[in-house]
Amino acid sequence: MRLLVTGGAGYIGSVVSARLIADGHEVVVLDDLSTGHADAVPAGARLVRGDVRSDAGRLLADGVDAVLHFAAKSLVAESVERPGLYWSSNLGGTLALLEAMRVSRVSRFVFSSTAAVYGEPGAVPITESAPTRPTSPYGASKVAVDTALAEHARMHGIGAVILRYFNVAGAQPHPPRGWLGERHATETHLIPNILAVALRGSGQVGIFGDDYPTADGTCIRDYIHVSDLAAAHVLALAACTAGEHKVYNLGSGSGFSNREVLTACQEVTGRPIAFRIAPRRPGDPAVLVASSERIAAELGWRPQRGLREMAADARAFARARAGA
Ligand code: UFG
Repeated sequence: MRLLVTGGAGYIGSVVSARLIADGHEVVVLDDLSTGHADAVPAGARLVRGDVRSDAGRLLADGVDAVLHFAAKSLVAESVERPGLYWSSNLGGTLALLEAMRVSRVSRFVFSSTAAVYGEPGAVPITESAPTRPTSPYGASKVAVDTALAEHARMHGIGAVILRYFNVAGAQPHPPRGWLGERHATETHLIPNILAVALRGSGQVGIFGDDYPTADGTCIRDYIHVSDLAAAHVLALAACTAGEHKVYNLGSGSGFSNREVLTACQEVTGRPIAFRIAPRRPGDPAVLVASSERIAAELGWRPQRGLREMAADARAFARARAGA
């Protein structure tokens, strides 16, 4: 298929693009490089530097079979400070893309959503039918896109698959260039922050809060390897059916506390990693664990890689970047 991948220069978009190319698809990446990196676009993909709102239309008019939409703002805290940016990029950008798809009669759409749509969950593991009660403009913008997609499926024949990612981690080998992984200008995620301290050999990673109602007092999250996530996108693409709107959680069904994640990283690096308990980070739910039974039952997806492998691959990526 000929595929438009928005945000294909970012962490998840680049890994999914590599997988799609390996599967024989033709990939056009549309990315404004505001947070992505041109050198993360896998060999074999064509990079078009541009904005979803102004540039997707002409690319779709060239003939595209499906769109995978990763381009978005994705920092919870930033979304609280700059809600307008999040609404306009995440909702406005997607609406413009949907309009361009309607005009060019492109119907298949895979959308990157997030556990943040659930906010503070009433029960775990979280199923797709749990209420969406986002606690940030980021999560709210993703819920709003979901509403728009349901309507576009009903009214305009779009076949949309929405993937709600839990905590994505790890990296993917990308020979001969090295690795594709997470490299944000401001890194907020736990595993890369822990590994950065290990790599520097100095400083401490802050663990945000140890007074949550969990066994060891630290938050619990459900981690998923980015390569397993890419496999889910391949299945999602095949599951896009005109007029249907499908929602799937992507997690493992198991949670790990922040202390357990620290331990896994220590095991992978083979040495202690300095940390300190820091104040809670506002807005962090105590426990986020996905039920991924729906995607297992309907699409046959199951994660193959565990936390150790995520930590090991994230470390290999970080070391390769640092030239270590
Ligand atoms: N944490 C630390 N220290 C750090 C970084 C994170 O203790 O340096 C903690 C956080 O407080 C949290 C856990 O590690 O308890 C995981 O935090 P991340 O920032 O790695 O991930 P989040 O669970 O906050 O974020 C994920 C997705 C977001 C999504 C959010 C929904 O990455 O896209 O879940 O809550 F919006």
